[in-house]
Amino acid sequence: MVTVEFEPTFERWQAAARALLSDGVSPADVEWRERPDAPPAPRASKFFRVPPRFLELARQAATASDPTRWGALYDVLWRIVNERRDLLDDRGDPGVRRLHGLAAQGRREAEQAERQEVLRLQAEGGGAAAFVPADADLATLAKAAKQCRGCPLYHDATQTVFGRGPADARVVLVGEQPGDQEDRRDAPFVGPAGEVLDRALRDVGIDRDAIYVTNAVKHFKFVLRGKRRIHQTPRLSEIVACRPWVEAELARLTPETLVCLGATAARALLGDDFRLMRDRGRVFSTRWAPQTLATLHPSAVLRGEDAAAQERLYGMLVEDLRLAAGAAR
Ligand code: URA
Ligand code: SF4
Repeated sequence: MVTVEFEPTFERWQAAARALLSDGVSPADVEWRERPDAPPAPRASKFFRVPPRFLELARQAATASDPTRWGALYDVLWRIVNERRDLLDDRGDPGVRRLHGLAAQGRREAEQAERQEVLRLQAEGGGAAAFVPADADLATLAKAAKQCRGCPLYHDATQTVFGRGPADARVVLVGEQPGDQEDRRDAPFVGPAGEVLDRALRDVGIDRDAIYVTNAVKHFKFVLRGKRRIHQTPRLSEIVACRPWVEAELARLTPETLVCLGATAARALLGDDFRLMRDRGRVFSTRWAPQTLATLHPSAVLRGEDAAAQERLYGMLVEDLRLAAGAAR
């Protein structure tokens, strides 16, 4: 019998499982014991190639809270490597079914935790609220935001990217969150989405220097794929956690027109019932601005599947921004 003490994360399990496979230890002979401060397993002596599909399923199954999941994962991995590589195709196999069940459990638990976190933030405040200075001007807010730890996103991003523009701006734009370029350069909308936005603003005659541009969430959220940082949409709990910043900005600004760029900003400011493609371009009066509306996110234009689709999406963005142009003058 081999007892494996390991920190219960997918990566640590994976390292330990590789070492066990290298040593030819069968699943029946392993006892998996979680220990938060355990050192990582030594490097495996052999290299095993497993289907990416397995890694994906295993990663999800590992998020379930069931303490027996590690053994279930190793059992399937062992059989994929030593018995049949296409084991995952056998949906009737009890081990494979178990992994799918664990993955589903993990998803349910994550959704539930997310709902509870949103409720907690809404009930107790929390999130960014503790970091927002009272009665501060925009420059002071921007400085204070650099220290924000109101949600986990500060952890992996380079810096807080605060809004930019004059305090007396007549038009305010709110995007989703900084992207890769924005995170490096500490300015909103300066990457590819910023180029689309700049072109649209020029087309409707809005001077970017005269408007205030910010984001609903102030830190870049991403996953690493090799060396590339791929944007991830923030969760509702992160949007709710960060909302005190955009609230504080909007309380200092007195725009004629407030434009939410994309579903995340609309969700943050106009509520969860807002449906972008149904409600875009509709003008509301809100406590922040007599004219408030939402339109597509400039990145949505870039995601259009071909040139014709992109032109059509760009047309919608321009059409909606035109409503803001009158106020800008
Ligand atoms: N996308 C956004 O929503 N905001 C930025 O600042 C950049 C890209
Ligand atoms: Fe604070 Fe917002 Fe950054 Fe989260 S994303 S740490 S709430 S500034």
